[in-house]
Amino acid sequence: MSHVSGIHFLQIPGPTNVPERVLRAIDRATIDHRGPGFATLSLEIQELIRPVFGTKQPVVIYPSSGTGAWEAALVNTLSPGDRVLMAETGQFAALWSKLAKRLGLDVEVIPGDWRHGADPDAIAERLSADRAHAIKAVAIVHNETSTGVTSRVADVRAAIDRAAHPALFFVDTISSLASIDYRHDEWGVDVTVGGSQKGLMLPPGLAFNAVSAKALAASRTATMPRSYWAWDEMLEANRTGYFPYTPATNLLYGLLEALHMLHEETMPAVFARHARHGEATRRAVRGWGLEILALDPREYSNTLTAILVPDGVDADALRATILERFDMSLGTGLGKVKGRVFRIGHLGSFNDLMLAGTLCGVQMGLELAGIPHGDGVTPALAYLAAPATAPQLAAV
Ligand SMILES: Cc1ncc(COP(=O)(O)O)c(C=O)c1O
Repeated sequence: MSHVSGIHFLQIPGPTNVPERVLRAIDRATIDHRGPGFATLSLEIQELIRPVFGTKQPVVIYPSSGTGAWEAALVNTLSPGDRVLMAETGQFAALWSKLAKRLGLDVEVIPGDWRHGADPDAIAERLSADRAHAIKAVAIVHNETSTGVTSRVADVRAAIDRAAHPALFFVDTISSLASIDYRHDEWGVDVTVGGSQKGLMLPPGLAFNAVSAKALAASRTATMPRSYWAWDEMLEANRTGYFPYTPATNLLYGLLEALHMLHEETMPAVFARHARHGEATRRAVRGWGLEILALDPREYSNTLTAILVPDGVDADALRATILERFDMSLGTGLGKVKGRVFRIGHLGSFNDLMLAGTLCGVQMGLELAGIPHGDGVTPALAYLAAPATAPQLAAV
């Protein structure tokens, strides 16, 4: 390996750039997780993390990747053979439904074109037809990281209510948490799934379940086998600031620092920053003359943009050129859209000049790869350089 000067641009949609403050917080001696210092750390985290989920209810923290929290949501609340309604919005929704099937659940998938979010009307229709209430849960991905499409969670909640259906409601916020407005309590979500490596600005390794009272009640009668993921022992130990097994202590140091940073910036400002960077990126894409994969402007993601390349162009070859020449990693196309799209991550610890550098890197890469394109950087910079007035923020 040879040294590459300057900072690497990690513009995949997670894991994201870990800020210095978080790195320094993690870089401390590990303490006794059964000693008094640990309880102080963990109780403060529990207080500060709830508002990030928009909840006053418990948030379970696992030492795991996000996939573990997907499994935890299902095994804590459901019984073998229970029916779960899922919306196929992209690769991550497909993976969650595959996981559910492997657990022995009866998964009903509403098919999608990977260019739209979960369709509230299709969900309402399916639930209304389910007079016997065979469907025990509805599960959607808030921000589909493979497509850059953000589902309208409040509208899906309204659809469930319209059908007067008692199903539990699960939402994956792995690439929206602490970046795009999210309200676990207000939107009546029963289990919110989260991960550390995106909006929370941490390395991978922590995953979350925010749990409603209804989900907790369901967990008392649900019979799926569970042990590592079981909420009961975790919530019991958490009451006094401890864990039933060894927690990821150093990642928790980092989490506390990240939570302080988010609250210092304030959550509304964090959401507005992501909205602004999402809009600037979309202006760049239009300037390049390329197509945004997301089709409905109401569903544009503010944390990443998936961009279609012209027919005959290999998106991964473009990514390889940009990595080689400019030391910038962009997200690959996943599943059905492999080779057809590349993804720009604009989430987490990020600012205007990082976005400007990112967009310049993409534009230079298009030039080098010989892909016909216009100037996307100038309209994006003009947008970023406009006075950050309230109307500008409201417009995005
Ligand atoms: C929306 C979404 N859900 C789930 C996952 C899976 O999480 P992990 O890879 O941490 O297990 C990811 C990973 O990128 C994701 O973006």
